[in-house]
Amino acid sequence: MKTLIKDGTVVTASDTFLADVWIDGDKISALTHPSARATMPIGPDVRQIDASGKYVIPGGIDCHTHMSLPFGGTTASDDFHTGTVAAAHGGTTTIVDFAIQSKGSSMRAGLDAWFAKAEGQAAGDYGFHMIMTEANPQTLAEMSDMIREGVTSFKMFMAYPGVFLVDDQQIFRAMLRAGELGALITMHAEIGLPIDVLVERALSEGHTAPIYHALTRPEVAEATGTERAIALAEMAGVPVYLVHLSAQRALERVMEARDRGLPTFAETCPQYLFLSEDDLRGDPGDEWKGAGYVCTPPLRPKHHHNHLWRGLKNYDLQVVATDHCPFCIKGQKELGRGNFSKIPNGMPGVETRLHLLWEGVVDGRISINRFVEITSTAPAKIFGMYGKKGTLSPGADADVVVWDPKRSKVLGKDTLHMNVDYSPFEGRPVPASPSHVFSRGELIVENDLWVGKQKQGRGQFIRRSTFGL
Ligand code: URP
Ligand code: ZN
Ligand code: ZN
Repeated sequence: MKTLIKDGTVVTASDTFLADVWIDGDKISALTHPSARATMPIGPDVRQIDASGKYVIPGGIDCHTHMSLPFGGTTASDDFHTGTVAAAHGGTTTIVDFAIQSKGSSMRAGLDAWFAKAEGQAAGDYGFHMIMTEANPQTLAEMSDMIREGVTSFKMFMAYPGVFLVDDQQIFRAMLRAGELGALITMHAEIGLPIDVLVERALSEGHTAPIYHALTRPEVAEATGTERAIALAEMAGVPVYLVHLSAQRALERVMEARDRGLPTFAETCPQYLFLSEDDLRGDPGDEWKGAGYVCTPPLRPKHHHNHLWRGLKNYDLQVVATDHCPFCIKGQKELGRGNFSKIPNGMPGVETRLHLLWEGVVDGRISINRFVEITSTAPAKIFGMYGKKGTLSPGADADVVVWDPKRSKVLGKDTLHMNVDYSPFEGRPVPASPSHVFSRGELIVENDLWVGKQKQGRGQFIRRSTFGL
């Protein structure tokens, strides 16, 4: 199938220009100036999409999702099918999810378990990072097997003692091995041991409401973890990528490192740019309402927003991913009624990332090219997909979004497609939406409707290359 997306304004991370985008099969075949159409015969077999007055951008890449993640005695409510369908409706055509090497088990087993969740289910393309819960001789040796599989990044946690937490020596060993292999270590950088003591103390004092999730995970815990992760990476001579950075002081640690020329990279998430501790507080008389806003790191006071936006604008933060990890209020978040530490951590977000970040373009906080860079190009480069994904150029996968700056929408659980019974952004109007979403040349979403031939299982696994910007 051939497609011509005509008269749109093409936006890449570096350029904005009027162009026709030609798709042949699953690839972009050419970008030409619209005036060139006068001299080109266009056969009846070419589907034509009018993109005048709209932007044509590369499909979004969300490099931080948790489909069907088992967490806190329950499982994230979106699976690879529902989650990637929702992602596509919001203009995200590729996700990178986190497989888990469980304690006492192998990475191979973890990867197979995640393939089983995704294969035959995902509607959009997907890759995997591997969560390492142990860096022992077996798992360190397995890192090279993962790389051969195209799983080239690993997540380690300084938080969640007894579940995911690994000590500095293990982190350091994994970093050294990653350096040998060209892999990238990504870090959840909150120091979890003292956090657990604060949680214990809060509960013993009778503080059970959702807001205590934030009050027991202070900014300094993230800033210190960030500094430590950077120090370990510096000692190992390797790059490090901080996931879900939420706070000013953590950002300052990243800025200092980058100013010293260290290969330190960081992502933030829409929840840290748009929501705040006030949401987690709930309403007067209804503190429980905050449960839907429990994620880790926690939402911070509002003044952090400006720092994070500036970090994005000034290239100190490279990526906006979602950390999509939804749990329904009913039956899931409710596990923590009466004990905030039992509320499963995470929020829905995979569908709303581009809608929300566009507000940053409209407000002049980031340029339109930076919008494309932080939502698609930078994650493609950092996580070894660039060229195939992350830009609009001949030979690239035809993951293309026609972004209509006039297609406004009100976000809410009934207008979105994520499999969850609430939206943290309920009732929020957003000015723009995708009108057309192509994944590898196939038109899959048109004006908010799934129009692809197949949903379940059309997504392909993306084997990613090793790190090399
Ligand atoms: O609240 C969150 N972030 N849940 C997912 C687990 C993680 O740490 O990314
Ligand atoms: Zn994390
Ligand atoms: Zn996460």
